[in-house]
Amino acid sequence: MEKLIVKGGTRLKGTIPVSGCKNAVLPIAVAASILGDGVSVLHNVPNLTDVKTLQAVLEGLGATIKLKNSTLYIESINHLEYEAPYDLVRKMRASIYVLGPLVAKLGRAKVSFPGGCAIGPRPIDLHIRGLEGLGAEVNVEEGYIYAQAERLVGTEMNLIGQHGPSVGATANVMMAATLAQGTTVIHGAAREPHISDLAHFLNAMGADIEGIGTPTLTIRGVKQLRGTEHTVISDDIEAGTFIVAGAITRGDVYVEGITPEQIPAISEKLVEAGVELDWDANGVRVTTPHEIQPVDITTAPFPGFPTDMQAQIMGLLCLASGTSVITENVHTDRFIHAAELNRMGANIALDGSKAIIKGTRNLSGAPVMASDLRAGAVLVAAGMAATGETVVSRVYHIDRGYESIEKKLNDVGANITRVNE
Ligand code: UD1
Repeated sequence: MEKLIVKGGTRLKGTIPVSGCKNAVLPIAVAASILGDGVSVLHNVPNLTDVKTLQAVLEGLGATIKLKNSTLYIESINHLEYEAPYDLVRKMRASIYVLGPLVAKLGRAKVSFPGGCAIGPRPIDLHIRGLEGLGAEVNVEEGYIYAQAERLVGTEMNLIGQHGPSVGATANVMMAATLAQGTTVIHGAAREPHISDLAHFLNAMGADIEGIGTPTLTIRGVKQLRGTEHTVISDDIEAGTFIVAGAITRGDVYVEGITPEQIPAISEKLVEAGVELDWDANGVRVTTPHEIQPVDITTAPFPGFPTDMQAQIMGLLCLASGTSVITENVHTDRFIHAAELNRMGANIALDGSKAIIKGTRNLSGAPVMASDLRAGAVLVAAGMAATGETVVSRVYHIDRGYESIEKKLNDVGANITRVNE
Protein backbone atom coordinates (compact mmCIF):
# COMPACT_ATOMS: atom_id res chain seq x y z
CA MET A 1 0.00 0.00 0.00
CA GLU A 2 1.21 3.48 -0.82
CA LYS A 3 1.91 6.30 1.63
CA LEU A 4 2.55 9.99 1.25
CA ILE A 5 5.45 11.47 3.16
CA VAL A 6 4.75 15.15 3.69
CA LYS A 7 7.64 17.34 4.87
CA GLY A 8 6.07 20.31 6.61
CA GLY A 9 6.92 23.97 6.88
CA THR A 10 6.54 24.83 3.21
CA ARG A 11 4.66 27.87 1.89
CA LEU A 12 2.81 27.20 -1.33
CA LYS A 13 3.43 29.70 -4.10
CA GLY A 14 2.20 29.55 -7.69
CA THR A 15 -0.74 28.40 -9.78
CA ILE A 16 -2.71 25.20 -9.05
CA PRO A 17 -5.02 24.06 -11.85
CA VAL A 18 -8.41 22.56 -10.91
CA SER A 19 -9.46 19.34 -12.68
CA GLY A 20 -12.91 18.27 -13.84
CA CYS A 21 -15.55 17.56 -11.24
CA LYS A 22 -15.59 13.93 -10.07
CA ASN A 23 -19.17 14.06 -8.85
CA ALA A 24 -20.34 15.43 -12.22
CA VAL A 25 -18.39 12.94 -14.35
CA LEU A 26 -19.80 9.90 -12.57
CA PRO A 27 -23.53 10.39 -13.36
CA ILE A 28 -22.75 11.95 -16.77
CA ALA A 29 -20.78 8.85 -17.79
CA VAL A 30 -23.70 6.69 -16.61
CA ALA A 31 -26.19 8.73 -18.65
CA ALA A 32 -23.94 8.57 -21.72
CA SER A 33 -23.46 4.80 -21.41
CA ILE A 34 -27.00 3.71 -20.62
CA LEU A 35 -29.48 6.39 -21.70
CA GLY A 36 -27.84 7.72 -24.85
CA ASP A 37 -27.70 6.00 -28.20
CA GLY A 38 -24.35 6.31 -29.97
CA VAL A 39 -21.13 7.99 -28.96
CA SER A 40 -20.57 10.68 -26.32
CA VAL A 41 -17.36 12.62 -25.89
CA LEU A 42 -16.65 14.15 -22.49
CA HIS A 43 -13.88 16.68 -22.02
CA ASN A 44 -12.18 17.78 -18.78
CA VAL A 45 -12.47 14.34 -17.19
CA PRO A 46 -10.13 13.79 -14.22
CA ASN A 47 -7.95 10.69 -14.13
CA LEU A 48 -9.20 9.19 -10.84
CA THR A 49 -9.66 5.70 -9.50
CA ASP A 50 -13.39 6.45 -9.01
CA VAL A 51 -13.68 7.12 -12.75
CA LYS A 52 -11.86 3.82 -13.47
CA THR A 53 -14.15 1.95 -11.08
CA LEU A 54 -17.22 3.36 -12.78
CA GLN A 55 -15.72 2.50 -16.16
CA ALA A 56 -15.51 -1.15 -15.05
CA VAL A 57 -19.16 -1.07 -13.93
CA LEU A 58 -20.30 0.45 -17.23
CA GLU A 59 -18.15 -1.87 -19.36
CA GLY A 60 -19.69 -4.75 -17.42
CA LEU A 61 -23.08 -3.49 -18.62
CA GLY A 62 -21.88 -3.39 -22.22
CA ALA A 63 -20.55 0.12 -22.89
CA THR A 64 -17.18 0.76 -24.52
CA ILE A 65 -15.17 3.46 -22.77
CA LYS A 66 -11.74 5.00 -23.38
CA LEU A 67 -10.01 7.75 -21.44
CA LYS A 68 -7.34 9.57 -23.46
CA ASN A 69 -5.66 12.55 -21.86
CA SER A 70 -8.69 14.20 -20.22
CA THR A 71 -11.26 13.09 -22.76
CA LEU A 72 -13.60 10.18 -22.18
CA TYR A 73 -15.07 8.47 -25.25
CA ILE A 74 -18.18 6.46 -24.47
CA GLU A 75 -20.04 4.22 -26.86
CA SER A 76 -23.32 2.88 -25.57
CA ILE A 77 -24.44 -0.39 -27.12
CA ASN A 78 -27.84 -1.77 -27.95
CA HIS A 79 -27.61 -4.96 -25.92
CA LEU A 80 -27.09 -3.70 -22.41
CA GLU A 81 -26.80 -6.07 -19.48
CA TYR A 82 -29.18 -5.23 -16.63
CA GLU A 83 -27.07 -6.39 -13.69
CA ALA A 84 -24.42 -4.50 -11.69
CA PRO A 85 -22.76 -7.07 -9.41
CA TYR A 86 -21.60 -6.70 -5.80
CA ASP A 87 -17.91 -7.03 -6.64
CA LEU A 88 -18.03 -3.80 -8.62
CA VAL A 89 -20.68 -1.83 -6.73
CA ARG A 90 -18.99 -2.38 -3.35
CA LYS A 91 -15.94 -0.46 -4.57
CA MET A 92 -17.93 2.73 -5.10
CA ARG A 93 -21.33 3.79 -3.82
CA ALA A 94 -21.97 6.00 -6.86
CA SER A 95 -22.51 2.78 -8.87
CA ILE A 96 -26.10 3.09 -7.63
CA TYR A 97 -26.49 5.70 -10.41
CA VAL A 98 -27.03 2.87 -12.92
CA LEU A 99 -30.31 1.83 -11.23
CA GLY A 100 -32.69 4.48 -12.60
CA PRO A 101 -31.20 4.64 -16.11
CA LEU A 102 -31.30 0.81 -16.48
CA VAL A 103 -34.99 0.63 -15.54
CA ALA A 104 -35.77 3.55 -17.86
CA LYS A 105 -33.91 2.01 -20.79
CA LEU A 106 -34.34 -1.76 -20.33
CA GLY A 107 -37.41 -1.98 -18.12
CA ARG A 108 -35.44 -3.83 -15.46
CA ALA A 109 -32.34 -3.59 -13.28
CA LYS A 110 -30.53 -5.70 -10.72
CA VAL A 111 -28.02 -3.65 -8.77
CA SER A 112 -26.11 -4.70 -5.67
CA PHE A 113 -27.31 -2.78 -2.59
CA PRO A 114 -24.45 -0.43 -1.72
CA GLY A 115 -22.90 -0.74 1.73
CA GLY A 116 -22.16 1.93 4.32
CA CYS A 117 -18.81 3.63 4.43
CA ALA A 118 -16.46 5.50 6.74
CA ILE A 119 -18.65 8.61 6.63
CA GLY A 120 -21.80 6.86 7.86
CA PRO A 121 -24.64 4.51 6.92
CA ARG A 122 -25.83 6.33 3.74
CA PRO A 123 -29.29 4.87 2.99
CA ILE A 124 -30.89 4.82 -0.49
CA ASP A 125 -34.57 5.00 0.47
CA LEU A 126 -35.06 8.23 -1.52
CA HIS A 127 -33.71 6.64 -4.71
CA ILE A 128 -36.19 3.80 -4.26
CA ARG A 129 -39.07 6.14 -3.37
CA GLY A 130 -38.43 8.20 -6.50
CA LEU A 131 -38.33 5.19 -8.82
CA GLU A 132 -41.46 3.74 -7.24
CA GLY A 133 -43.08 7.14 -7.82
CA LEU A 134 -42.32 6.68 -11.52
CA GLY A 135 -44.15 3.36 -11.40
CA ALA A 136 -41.26 0.91 -10.96
CA GLU A 137 -41.70 -2.13 -8.77
CA VAL A 138 -38.69 -2.25 -6.48
CA ASN A 139 -37.67 -5.17 -4.22
CA VAL A 140 -34.61 -5.77 -2.13
CA GLU A 141 -33.57 -9.43 -1.93
CA GLU A 142 -30.31 -11.17 -1.08
CA GLY A 143 -28.31 -7.97 -1.16
CA TYR A 144 -29.66 -6.82 -4.52
CA ILE A 145 -32.16 -4.17 -5.57
CA TYR A 146 -34.49 -5.47 -8.26
CA ALA A 147 -36.45 -2.83 -10.15
CA GLN A 148 -38.77 -3.24 -13.07
CA ALA A 149 -41.35 -1.33 -15.05
CA GLU A 150 -42.64 -1.81 -18.57
CA ARG A 151 -42.44 1.95 -19.07
CA LEU A 152 -41.83 4.54 -16.37
CA VAL A 153 -44.59 7.14 -16.09
CA GLY A 154 -43.99 10.76 -15.07
CA THR A 155 -45.44 12.04 -11.82
CA GLU A 156 -45.04 14.81 -9.22
CA MET A 157 -42.92 13.91 -6.21
CA ASN A 158 -41.05 15.33 -3.25
CA LEU A 159 -37.55 13.93 -2.79
CA ILE A 160 -36.63 15.73 0.46
CA GLY A 161 -35.21 13.38 3.07
CA GLN A 162 -34.54 13.84 6.76
CA HIS A 163 -31.19 15.50 5.96
CA GLY A 164 -32.58 17.61 3.11
CA PRO A 165 -32.26 17.03 -0.62
CA SER A 166 -30.23 14.08 -1.88
CA VAL A 167 -27.66 14.52 -4.64
CA GLY A 168 -27.74 10.84 -5.58
CA ALA A 169 -31.52 10.40 -5.52
CA THR A 170 -32.04 13.58 -7.57
CA ALA A 171 -29.56 12.40 -10.21
CA ASN A 172 -30.96 8.86 -10.33
CA VAL A 173 -34.61 9.90 -10.62
CA MET A 174 -33.90 12.78 -13.02
CA MET A 175 -32.01 10.42 -15.35
CA ALA A 176 -34.81 7.85 -15.21
CA ALA A 177 -37.51 10.49 -15.81
CA THR A 178 -35.90 11.68 -19.07
CA LEU A 179 -37.20 8.54 -20.81
CA ALA A 180 -40.48 8.23 -18.85
CA GLN A 181 -43.85 8.72 -20.44
CA GLY A 182 -45.20 12.20 -19.59
CA THR A 183 -43.93 14.84 -17.20
CA THR A 184 -42.12 14.39 -13.88
CA VAL A 185 -41.84 17.20 -11.35
CA ILE A 186 -39.25 16.72 -8.60
CA HIS A 187 -39.70 19.02 -5.61
CA GLY A 188 -36.85 19.20 -3.13
CA ALA A 189 -34.24 18.48 -5.80
CA ALA A 190 -30.56 18.86 -4.96
CA ARG A 191 -29.02 22.01 -6.46
CA GLU A 192 -25.31 21.17 -6.37
CA PRO A 193 -23.40 22.48 -9.44
CA HIS A 194 -22.72 18.89 -10.56
CA ILE A 195 -26.47 18.14 -10.61
CA SER A 196 -26.92 21.15 -12.91
CA ASP A 197 -24.05 19.94 -15.09
CA LEU A 198 -25.71 16.53 -15.40
CA ALA A 199 -29.03 18.20 -16.33
CA HIS A 200 -27.32 20.33 -19.01
CA PHE A 201 -25.67 17.19 -20.39
CA LEU A 202 -29.02 15.35 -20.50
CA ASN A 203 -30.61 18.30 -22.34
CA ALA A 204 -27.75 18.26 -24.85
CA MET A 205 -28.60 14.56 -25.40
CA GLY A 206 -32.17 15.55 -26.25
CA ALA A 207 -33.86 15.55 -22.82
CA ASP A 208 -36.26 18.28 -21.77
CA ILE A 209 -35.41 19.44 -18.23
CA GLU A 210 -36.49 22.80 -16.83
CA GLY A 211 -35.72 24.46 -13.52
CA ILE A 212 -32.02 23.54 -13.58
CA GLY A 213 -30.30 24.94 -10.48
CA THR A 214 -33.60 25.36 -8.59
CA PRO A 215 -35.26 23.02 -6.05
CA THR A 216 -37.98 22.10 -8.57
CA LEU A 217 -37.07 20.19 -11.70
CA THR A 218 -39.61 19.59 -14.45
CA ILE A 219 -38.68 16.75 -16.78
CA ARG A 220 -40.77 16.07 -19.87
CA GLY A 221 -40.11 12.52 -21.02
CA VAL A 222 -38.74 11.94 -24.51
CA LYS A 223 -38.53 8.77 -26.61
CA GLN A 224 -34.80 8.76 -27.22
CA LEU A 225 -31.55 10.36 -26.13
CA ARG A 226 -28.47 10.45 -28.34
CA GLY A 227 -24.75 10.77 -27.64
CA THR A 228 -23.30 14.26 -27.47
CA GLU A 229 -20.15 16.23 -26.65
CA HIS A 230 -19.76 18.00 -23.32
CA THR A 231 -17.11 19.71 -21.19
CA VAL A 232 -17.45 18.76 -17.53
CA ILE A 233 -17.43 21.63 -14.99
CA SER A 234 -14.45 22.06 -12.71
CA ASP A 235 -14.33 20.41 -9.30
CA ASP A 236 -15.60 22.72 -6.56
CA ILE A 237 -14.29 20.53 -3.75
CA GLU A 238 -10.85 20.11 -5.27
CA ALA A 239 -10.71 23.90 -5.69
CA GLY A 240 -11.82 24.41 -2.07
CA THR A 241 -9.14 21.96 -0.92
CA PHE A 242 -6.41 23.88 -2.78
CA ILE A 243 -7.63 27.19 -1.34
CA VAL A 244 -7.34 25.67 2.14
CA ALA A 245 -3.89 24.28 1.24
CA GLY A 246 -2.80 27.80 0.25
CA ALA A 247 -4.25 29.33 3.41
CA ILE A 248 -3.00 26.74 5.90
CA THR A 249 0.59 27.09 4.62
CA ARG A 250 0.27 30.92 4.62
CA GLY A 251 1.13 30.73 0.94
CA ASP A 252 0.30 32.84 -2.10
CA VAL A 253 -1.49 30.64 -4.62
CA TYR A 254 -3.70 31.14 -7.61
CA VAL A 255 -6.36 28.43 -7.91
CA GLU A 256 -7.16 28.30 -11.58
CA GLY A 257 -10.43 27.22 -13.19
CA ILE A 258 -13.08 27.97 -10.56
CA THR A 259 -15.80 30.63 -10.24
CA PRO A 260 -17.24 32.19 -7.06
CA GLU A 261 -20.71 30.90 -8.00
CA GLN A 262 -19.47 27.30 -7.63
CA ILE A 263 -18.26 27.74 -4.06
CA PRO A 264 -20.37 30.48 -2.40
CA ALA A 265 -20.41 29.09 1.14
CA ILE A 266 -16.79 27.91 1.07
CA SER A 267 -15.66 31.39 -0.01
CA GLU A 268 -17.82 33.11 2.59
CA LYS A 269 -16.47 31.03 5.48
CA LEU A 270 -12.84 31.28 4.36
CA VAL A 271 -13.12 35.07 4.11
CA GLU A 272 -14.69 35.11 7.59
CA ALA A 273 -11.65 33.11 8.77
CA GLY A 274 -9.36 35.84 7.44
CA VAL A 275 -8.35 34.29 4.12
CA GLU A 276 -8.13 36.88 1.34
CA LEU A 277 -9.71 35.79 -1.93
CA ASP A 278 -9.05 37.93 -4.97
CA TRP A 279 -11.21 36.69 -7.84
CA ASP A 280 -10.76 37.27 -11.55
CA ALA A 281 -12.33 35.68 -14.62
CA ASN A 282 -10.15 32.53 -14.47
CA GLY A 283 -9.83 31.78 -10.79
CA VAL A 284 -8.85 33.13 -7.40
CA ARG A 285 -5.66 34.35 -5.71
CA VAL A 286 -5.44 33.14 -2.11
CA THR A 287 -3.38 34.90 0.57
CA THR A 288 -3.60 34.84 4.36
CA PRO A 289 -1.85 37.93 5.69
CA HIS A 290 -3.31 37.88 9.22
CA GLU A 291 -4.06 35.34 11.92
CA ILE A 292 -6.72 32.76 11.08
CA GLN A 293 -9.95 33.65 12.86
CA PRO A 294 -12.28 31.04 14.41
CA VAL A 295 -15.61 30.52 12.61
CA ASP A 296 -18.70 28.44 13.21
CA ILE A 297 -19.88 26.29 10.32
CA THR A 298 -22.89 24.09 9.71
CA THR A 299 -22.79 21.76 6.72
CA ALA A 300 -25.85 21.73 4.48
CA PRO A 301 -26.84 20.90 0.91
CA PHE A 302 -25.91 23.46 -1.77
CA PRO A 303 -25.85 26.47 -1.53
CA GLY A 304 -24.91 25.67 2.09
CA PHE A 305 -21.42 24.70 3.25
CA PRO A 306 -20.63 21.29 1.70
CA THR A 307 -19.96 18.29 3.90
CA ASP A 308 -17.21 17.38 1.43
CA MET A 309 -15.22 20.46 2.60
CA GLN A 310 -15.84 19.93 6.31
CA ALA A 311 -12.61 17.99 6.98
CA GLN A 312 -10.40 20.44 5.07
CA ILE A 313 -11.72 23.56 6.80
CA MET A 314 -11.45 21.79 10.15
CA GLY A 315 -7.72 21.43 9.44
CA LEU A 316 -7.44 25.17 8.86
CA LEU A 317 -9.43 26.03 11.99
CA CYS A 318 -7.04 23.91 14.09
CA LEU A 319 -4.63 26.85 13.64
CA ALA A 320 -7.16 29.65 14.36
CA SER A 321 -6.79 32.13 17.20
CA GLY A 322 -9.83 30.85 19.13
CA THR A 323 -12.55 28.21 19.26
CA SER A 324 -14.66 27.17 16.26
CA VAL A 325 -17.66 24.85 16.18
CA ILE A 326 -18.49 22.70 13.15
CA THR A 327 -21.91 21.08 13.03
CA GLU A 328 -22.16 18.21 10.54
CA ASN A 329 -25.75 18.05 9.36
CA VAL A 330 -25.38 15.94 6.22
CA HIS A 331 -23.26 12.90 7.15
CA THR A 332 -23.55 13.18 10.92
CA ASP A 333 -20.83 10.58 11.71
CA ARG A 334 -18.22 12.14 9.47
CA PHE A 335 -15.52 13.02 12.00
CA ILE A 336 -12.91 10.26 11.87
CA HIS A 337 -10.30 12.79 10.70
CA ALA A 338 -10.64 14.71 14.01
CA ALA A 339 -8.79 11.98 15.92
CA GLU A 340 -6.02 11.96 13.29
CA LEU A 341 -5.66 15.76 13.48
CA ASN A 342 -5.43 15.45 17.27
CA ARG A 343 -2.48 13.08 16.74
CA MET A 344 -0.80 16.04 15.04
CA GLY A 345 -1.36 18.29 18.05
CA ALA A 346 -4.82 19.69 17.28
CA ASN A 347 -7.39 20.15 20.03
CA ILE A 348 -10.72 18.87 18.74
CA ALA A 349 -13.49 17.51 20.95
CA LEU A 350 -16.55 15.77 19.53
CA ASP A 351 -20.07 16.10 20.86
CA GLY A 352 -22.54 14.19 18.71
CA SER A 353 -22.70 15.92 15.35
CA LYS A 354 -20.60 18.84 16.60
CA ALA A 355 -16.83 19.26 16.59
CA ILE A 356 -15.37 21.88 18.92
CA ILE A 357 -12.00 23.01 17.64
CA LYS A 358 -9.72 24.96 19.96
CA GLY A 359 -7.11 26.68 17.87
CA THR A 360 -3.46 25.93 18.56
CA ARG A 361 -0.24 27.66 17.41
CA ASN A 362 1.40 24.65 15.78
CA LEU A 363 0.72 21.24 14.39
CA SER A 364 3.46 18.65 14.40
CA GLY A 365 4.04 15.85 11.93
CA ALA A 366 2.88 12.34 12.85
CA PRO A 367 1.96 9.05 11.21
CA VAL A 368 -1.76 9.33 10.33
CA MET A 369 -4.33 7.38 8.37
CA ALA A 370 -6.76 8.60 5.70
CA SER A 371 -10.19 7.18 6.51
CA ASP A 372 -11.95 8.61 3.46
CA LEU A 373 -11.22 10.81 0.50
CA ARG A 374 -11.63 14.24 2.12
CA ALA A 375 -10.15 13.08 5.43
CA GLY A 376 -7.06 12.15 3.44
CA ALA A 377 -6.92 15.60 1.86
CA VAL A 378 -6.96 17.41 5.21
CA LEU A 379 -4.12 15.26 6.54
CA VAL A 380 -1.95 16.22 3.56
CA ALA A 381 -2.84 19.91 4.03
CA ALA A 382 -2.18 19.76 7.78
CA GLY A 383 1.08 17.92 7.11
CA MET A 384 2.28 20.77 4.88
CA ALA A 385 1.58 23.27 7.69
CA ALA A 386 3.05 21.11 10.48
CA THR A 387 6.60 20.99 11.73
CA GLY A 388 8.45 17.79 10.83
CA GLU A 389 7.22 14.86 8.79
CA THR A 390 3.70 13.51 8.39
CA VAL A 391 3.21 10.06 6.92
CA VAL A 392 -0.28 9.61 5.48
CA SER A 393 -1.28 6.00 4.90
CA ARG A 394 -4.23 4.59 2.92
CA VAL A 395 -3.51 7.01 0.09
CA TYR A 396 -5.87 5.04 -2.15
CA HIS A 397 -8.70 7.02 -0.57
CA ILE A 398 -7.13 10.28 -1.78
CA ASP A 399 -6.54 8.89 -5.29
CA ARG A 400 -10.27 8.23 -5.61
CA GLY A 401 -10.93 11.96 -5.90
CA TYR A 402 -7.71 13.96 -6.39
CA GLU A 403 -5.80 13.74 -9.65
CA SER A 404 -2.00 13.70 -9.06
CA ILE A 405 -2.35 15.42 -5.68
CA GLU A 406 1.36 15.36 -4.84
CA LYS A 407 2.37 16.58 -8.29
CA LYS A 408 -0.04 19.51 -8.20
CA LEU A 409 1.10 20.51 -4.69
CA ASN A 410 4.83 19.90 -5.30
CA ASP A 411 4.61 22.12 -8.40
CA VAL A 412 3.77 25.02 -6.05
CA GLY A 413 6.43 24.26 -3.45
CA ALA A 414 5.19 21.36 -1.32
CA ASN A 415 7.52 18.52 -0.38
CA ILE A 416 5.48 15.33 -0.75
CA THR A 417 6.84 11.93 -1.74
CA ARG A 418 4.84 8.82 -2.55
CA VAL A 419 6.36 5.61 -1.27
CA ASN A 420 5.36 1.97 -1.36
CA GLU A 421 5.17 0.37 2.05
C1 UD1 B 1 -23.05 12.85 -2.83
C2 UD1 B 1 -21.57 12.96 -3.06
C3 UD1 B 1 -20.84 12.96 -1.73
C4 UD1 B 1 -21.38 14.07 -0.83
C5 UD1 B 1 -22.89 14.01 -0.73
C6 UD1 B 1 -23.48 15.22 -0.02
C7 UD1 B 1 -21.34 11.82 -5.18
C8 UD1 B 1 -20.82 10.65 -5.92
N1 UD1 B 1 -21.16 11.82 -3.86
O1 UD1 B 1 -23.28 11.62 -2.15
O2 UD1 B 1 -19.46 13.18 -1.99
O3 UD1 B 1 -20.83 13.93 0.47
O4 UD1 B 1 -23.47 13.98 -2.05
O5 UD1 B 1 -23.12 16.39 -0.67
O6 UD1 B 1 -21.84 12.76 -5.77
N2 UD1 B 1 -30.03 10.20 2.23
C9 UD1 B 1 -31.11 9.48 2.67
N3 UD1 B 1 -31.72 8.63 1.80
C10 UD1 B 1 -31.31 8.48 0.51
C11 UD1 B 1 -30.20 9.23 0.07
C12 UD1 B 1 -29.57 10.09 0.94
O7 UD1 B 1 -31.51 9.59 3.82
O8 UD1 B 1 -31.91 7.71 -0.23
C13 UD1 B 1 -29.33 11.12 3.16
C14 UD1 B 1 -27.87 10.76 3.33
O9 UD1 B 1 -27.68 9.77 4.33
C15 UD1 B 1 -27.28 12.09 3.71
C16 UD1 B 1 -28.11 13.08 2.90
O10 UD1 B 1 -29.32 12.40 2.58
O11 UD1 B 1 -27.50 12.37 5.07
C17 UD1 B 1 -27.45 13.55 1.63
O12 UD1 B 1 -26.96 12.42 0.91
P1 UD1 B 1 -26.82 12.46 -0.67
O13 UD1 B 1 -26.91 13.89 -1.12
O14 UD1 B 1 -27.72 11.49 -1.29
O15 UD1 B 1 -25.33 11.96 -0.87
P2 UD1 B 1 -24.76 11.04 -2.02
O16 UD1 B 1 -25.47 11.29 -3.30
O17 UD1 B 1 -24.63 9.65 -1.51
